[in-house]
Amino acid sequence: MKYPKEYLQEIKNRLKISTVVSKTVSLKKRGKEYVGLSPFKTEKTPSFTVNDEKEFYHCFSTGEHGNIFDFVMKTQNFKFGESVKFLSNLAGMRPYTFSKEDRIREEKWNKYKMIYAKYVEFYHEDIFKNPLAIDAKNYLKNRNLNIEEVKKFKIGYVSNNENFKKQIFKEFNESEIKDTGLFYFDEKKKKYVDRFRNRVIFPINNISGDPIALGGRILNNNKYLAKYINSPETPFFKKGSNLYNLDFTRKLSNNINNIFLVEGYMDVVGLSKNKVYNAVANLGTSLTTRQILSLNQFFQHIIVCFDGDESGYKAALRAAENSIIELKPEKEISFLFLPDKHDPDSFVNEKGKDFFENFSKNNSVPIHKFIFNHYSKDMDDNPSSRAIFEKKLRAISSTIKDEFIRKYVLEYFLEKIYELTPNTNVKYKKNYSKITKSLKSTQNYYNETKSLKSIDIKEFSFLYILLKKSNLIKNNFNLIENVKLFSNENKLLFEEIKNQTNNFENTEIESLKIDQSLIDRVFKYASIKHIIVKNFNDDQKILEILSELIRDLKNYELELRIIDLESKFSKDLSETTFNELKELKKLQKIN
Ligand code: UTP
Ligand code: MN
Repeated sequence: MKYPKEYLQEIKNRLKISTVVSKTVSLKKRGKEYVGLSPFKTEKTPSFTVNDEKEFYHCFSTGEHGNIFDFVMKTQNFKFGESVKFLSNLAGMRPYTFSKEDRIREEKWNKYKMIYAKYVEFYHEDIFKNPLAIDAKNYLKNRNLNIEEVKKFKIGYVSNNENFKKQIFKEFNESEIKDTGLFYFDEKKKKYVDRFRNRVIFPINNISGDPIALGGRILNNNKYLAKYINSPETPFFKKGSNLYNLDFTRKLSNNINNIFLVEGYMDVVGLSKNKVYNAVANLGTSLTTRQILSLNQFFQHIIVCFDGDESGYKAALRAAENSIIELKPEKEISFLFLPDKHDPDSFVNEKGKDFFENFSKNNSVPIHKFIFNHYSKDMDDNPSSRAIFEKKLRAISSTIKDEFIRKYVLEYFLEKIYELTPNTNVKYKKNYSKITKSLKSTQNYYNETKSLKSIDIKEFSFLYILLKKSNLIKNNFNLIENVKLFSNENKLLFEEIKNQTNNFENTEIESLKIDQSLIDRVFKYASIKHIIVKNFNDDQKILEILSELIRDLKNYELELRIIDLESKFSKDLSETTFNELKELKKLQKIN
């Protein structure tokens, strides 16, 4: 069976080979390439190179080379199909299963793309020659655009051409056309109409460069019509997974580390006109995890630059709280605030590229500082307000997935709180210094005993039972299936155990595809070791212990959510929050 070529190409487009390789081989940049120690041979001098532009790796000492699929096959001992599955998952794509549904979907997708390509091409060409598009042409001129930008972004104007519509309806069937969202059925007129009629259109491409949706702007601001509309969500366009201009900027990422994330189409176009090419826009919705992850594939540093008004600031704050969750050690996220009444488009048009880039260099605020500064502005000089403030910051830092980032962000928050309140009562001070001391100790990556939290120990105990009593677990799989762990390393181990339990008779520790040191940690720190050993053949007793651990893990999750909600409630005092909180507390009691 053969995967569609396009499916494989999309995986390659979405993933950068150096990013994938660096998950297992530590790489250093050297010119246009990355170098590291060969994963195929023990060596002291690096002879392994990765080239993102050419999309391959080469190992000079063994002669091994290949593309992203070869790399995964060779290093993980996968068959081709398994490597496709693994990488498509990493790329956030749906798995390809060779089912009838997949084939139908593939056919639909091809039609969808053809319709969009035709539509975009037609109305882009049309803007240059159709007399009805003259107002649109003038509009773009007034917004400082040249022909180059109109061409680069394939901007068009939908003048409502009945002949073109007829042609489309002749060539494709109704359901294919309906899927695109380009036309909708007007019940009164009993006919299909152009959703984007009388609008300037900005094609939104997928990462491979195919147009899959449109943004459309009216020419004259008017209080009855939305200034911008987007294509509705379609089977092939999900707003939160796409970014405007990512298909173009992706190709710059071999030479550029930074990406500007802006709010509007016109911001991207205006920046590009001023030779700031590395900008994408998030299509008028709030920033999603998917979007952060796809930018992280390509860029080290995301600079969020929203409009300099209140709604831009609010959107930035929401983006910060959503994206700090995904912050990774080797990545950065910053926020750039423009002077009031400016957006990136107006700012760069007024000041030019150099000023814009310098301004960005000098004024970007790292994500954790932005969050701290924001909440400290609301804080009053009284204990209750301070408590809310600290709780809020703790709640935010606890959402961060990466264990190390989580610790350092919390440490930063607590240190700043201490600076703000050096004279609060002595007891607090003492507690605080105890906390920072233990946080400092975590700076030593391997000095684990000091940094283990009680929840970590619970997780170790839980995993210990899974490893030791695999038969019992296999027969009671439903018990553990939906348990949520909190530390990333333990999560990995847990996933691997679940996979094995599903596929094989027994969980064999030797065949777990997981770093031995993670398993060693479980054996070393599981606090219930001796109880399990003592009751090894008493399955009933062991299931009881297991259930208790699972309950504790669940309660921990609840607790985190409660802390978060409490601080939300103390701010918004809304009834919905209160009821939600009540529900959670009830749950906590039942458990
Ligand atoms: P803005 O209103 O800031 O866009 O909205 P802009 O590019 O600065 O607009 P003009 O053309 O210069 O006046 C930012 C983004 O929010 C979405 C669009 O994606 C827009 O690019 N938006 C805005 C909508 O979806 N609907 C709207 O009515 C307005
Ligand atoms: Mn704007």
